[in-house]
Amino acid sequence: MMRPLTLADDIFWVGGIDFESRDFHGYSRSPLGTTYNAYLIKDRKNALFDTVKESHGPGLLESLSRILPPEQVDYIVVNHLELDHSGSLPLLMEACRPEALLCSPQGEKFLVGHFGRRDWPVRVVSAGDTLSLGRRNVRFLEARMLHWPDSMFSYIPEEKLLITNDAFGQNIASTARFADEADPSLLRGALSEYYHNIILPYSPQVLKILDQIAAQGIAVNILAPDHGLIFRTPEDVAATLAAYRDFALQRPQKRALIIYDTMWRSTESLAHALYRGLAAGGVDTAVMHLKQNHHSAVMSELAHCGLLAVGSPTHNNTILPSTAGVLTYLKGLRPKNKIGAAFGSFGWSGESPKILGEFLSGMGMALPEPPFSCRLVPTASVLASCEALGASLATALDKHCRDFADSPPER
Ligand code: FEO
Repeated sequence: MMRPLTLADDIFWVGGIDFESRDFHGYSRSPLGTTYNAYLIKDRKNALFDTVKESHGPGLLESLSRILPPEQVDYIVVNHLELDHSGSLPLLMEACRPEALLCSPQGEKFLVGHFGRRDWPVRVVSAGDTLSLGRRNVRFLEARMLHWPDSMFSYIPEEKLLITNDAFGQNIASTARFADEADPSLLRGALSEYYHNIILPYSPQVLKILDQIAAQGIAVNILAPDHGLIFRTPEDVAATLAAYRDFALQRPQKRALIIYDTMWRSTESLAHALYRGLAAGGVDTAVMHLKQNHHSAVMSELAHCGLLAVGSPTHNNTILPSTAGVLTYLKGLRPKNKIGAAFGSFGWSGESPKILGEFLSGMGMALPEPPFSCRLVPTASVLASCEALGASLATALDKHCRDFADSPPER
């Protein structure tokens, strides 16, 4: 059980800390653990904003009970129905028996689908709707597809408190609850990893909501996501909103990522030769062996790179499964504004570089150079050609970044 923490007068964090979490939602990772944040506002009407994963429900209930008897909770607001925020809803609904459970129109469908309950006092709210708590009001903001169709934000104007559910989250389990108590580089890395593995496909929606916040003059003193640390200083709030805009714009950077898998190290030799060529061309380059790096770590690295080079030997007329798996994951996240390159060794048929090239093209990446192949073990001459390819890619990346800066695409 975690003790409640005061955010402001009569506003409390009542969430849970999951130090054990490493597999995040079955598709990403949480190497530093995570938290499930929930917030309670005491007023003439008491409101709980979001719940927690089912395993952390009893802790939330105990924490809440230190502030008020659960049956005095009048409203439960469910900003998002994914089970890390709603898994303990049955427990909380039973204990609190609130006057209303508030969710978005899509949220209502997920409620029924997840819990099969039609007897709960659901009140559907839409963007712009308000709820009076007494001294304070709640305004619901459109956050559809950030990152589910049901997602919404809750804004409390009197406190300039914006509760954003998954958006602005980070997977960090720690004693610190606030961003200004944490190591800034660790926080920035976790914010970026979360964005690029969860939120990235919805970057257009991120830009839209950031524009909406600015256009509507929504002032934010406390930015309160449902995972990780809470932002409460003007500097941290501004930096986090700016970081999200930066992430969403996906400007290509003059950095490269080489990912590969290998059987008898020929493709690995090509990867290293490519690295030497890119580095000699002035490009900061990371190299990741796909059997030794989680696909989320690959995506986190790719986030800062304008070039992705992928290598696999040919095996049974196709690419290795690790490579196919990572590429499938990356494609789903829809990274934009990058160029690509493909390479690989082969014994007799040699399909892999072409397959990789087609996959990258299918992700919207231009390939400035044709796929590079090598039969069996690369000779010194082949490695020299591969280095030259790296140098040529460095030039192409430099041009790609300059072209993008001169004429960024329409949003
Ligand atoms: Fe943190 Fe979409 O759940």
